[in-house]
Amino acid sequence: MYRSDSVDAAKVRGVDSGRLQSFVASERVVFSRVRPRSAQCQAQGPNGYYADAPMHWMLDWPTPFPLVIANASNATLTDIDGISLADFCLGDTGSMFGHSPAPVVRAIERQVRRGLTYMLPTPEALAVGPLLRERFGLPYWQVATTASDANRFALRVARAVTGRAKILVMQGCYHGAVDETYVALDQGKPVNRAGLVGQTVDLTADTKIVEFNDVQGLTRALADRDVACVITEPVLTNCSMVLPAPGYHQALRQLTREAGTLLLIDETHTISTGPGGYTRAFQLQPDLFVLGKPIAGGIAASVWGFTDHVAARWDEIRQSKADGHSGIGTTLSANALAMAAMQAVLTEVMTDEAYAHMERLAVRLEAGLSGVIDRYHAPWHVARVGARIEFICAPGPLKNGSEALHAHAPALEQAIHLGLVNRGCLIAPFHNMMLICPATTAVQVDTLIAAFSDVVGQLIA
Ligand SMILES: Cc1ncc(COP(=O)(O)O)c(C=O)c1O
Repeated sequence: MYRSDSVDAAKVRGVDSGRLQSFVASERVVFSRVRPRSAQCQAQGPNGYYADAPMHWMLDWPTPFPLVIANASNATLTDIDGISLADFCLGDTGSMFGHSPAPVVRAIERQVRRGLTYMLPTPEALAVGPLLRERFGLPYWQVATTASDANRFALRVARAVTGRAKILVMQGCYHGAVDETYVALDQGKPVNRAGLVGQTVDLTADTKIVEFNDVQGLTRALADRDVACVITEPVLTNCSMVLPAPGYHQALRQLTREAGTLLLIDETHTISTGPGGYTRAFQLQPDLFVLGKPIAGGIAASVWGFTDHVAARWDEIRQSKADGHSGIGTTLSANALAMAAMQAVLTEVMTDEAYAHMERLAVRLEAGLSGVIDRYHAPWHVARVGARIEFICAPGPLKNGSEALHAHAPALEQAIHLGLVNRGCLIAPFHNMMLICPATTAVQVDTLIAAFSDVVGQLIA
């Protein structure tokens, strides 16, 4: 739903507030007028779900009522009113390789008649281990159901093998529903994040937090040698986009090694960089590695990998620990259906050719959006990591998570998103994220650039 953030300042990031409000009002009318069936779904009233949606994020879109999707293929969604949208959200990365890629469909069709889950491996599951090893360069792998789970399990192992309780996160980070990462910096002090519900422990007791790109802060935070693990994305992608400063990753690796702290690189979003993620493209050397969302082409699955060193220490712990639950693993993890899909993704979908196409069109989109911003002299900028592009309604580049959080302009961003939907393009609802998939076409990219130009023109001209 459209959130009615205050837009009472005379200008919001170069856009007149009155103009912004009248733009939104007329776009809401346009959206609703052409979607009688979706409107009818909404008008029917309570549908059995709490807040009328199976998952509350489905209400986070800027539209007057949710789009109800009839089908999706390649990079196109079609709603129940028959309106097609070029999809640049791609399930917020879950469908980063397109909707129902043909190899994944074939793998699922084969598996669906052979049972879906039995808590035992299949030939496909056994084939995936070496594929992960080869692609991402780490020797040991485990499979979980979501990236949140994989991060939780990897952090648990990191704490076990180092014998340390604390972890360290970056300001503005997001690693899924992982309680201990929900810490923020408030005027330089760690605090529990404001939006948490049902939180009964003080997360700041065991979570340290620094700004991304802050080598001095990191040095100080690791000095006590009490941090088990630094968990970070290689590029911050969940508070718009913050790229690493030159030398930052080398410093991060060196400082964590010196402090006996493990480094967990969460590639769930930055797998947009290339076939081996940012890690392979920039030769990072994580101790632990997590990748969720698109790894099984849209079927729920995630993977987490680790080094020989971590494995050896974990072996010792497992041999000496008492029997009973370890807190790692869930019943449907590595189920037969997900493993069949994952094998197809790793062998036939995440190919060099697919990434070359994605990169080419991402460069085209980046240039097109930047051109629009320049043409209207908007105080905004564009950032990109491989096939993931973000326009940011503030000057850039952003240096850290705090700058990124301040750059966020919810009312303006939601107005732009709604304008783009009405011009045939869907982007992610949370900030201004766009993904290019192997099936995205140049025509779709040019449609988005033209739509952005029209919307920005109406808002700024
Ligand atoms: C970097 C990163 N890690 C982990 C997650 C959690 O993914 P999931 O919601 O699939 O568990 C997200 C979700 O956006 C993410 O961006």
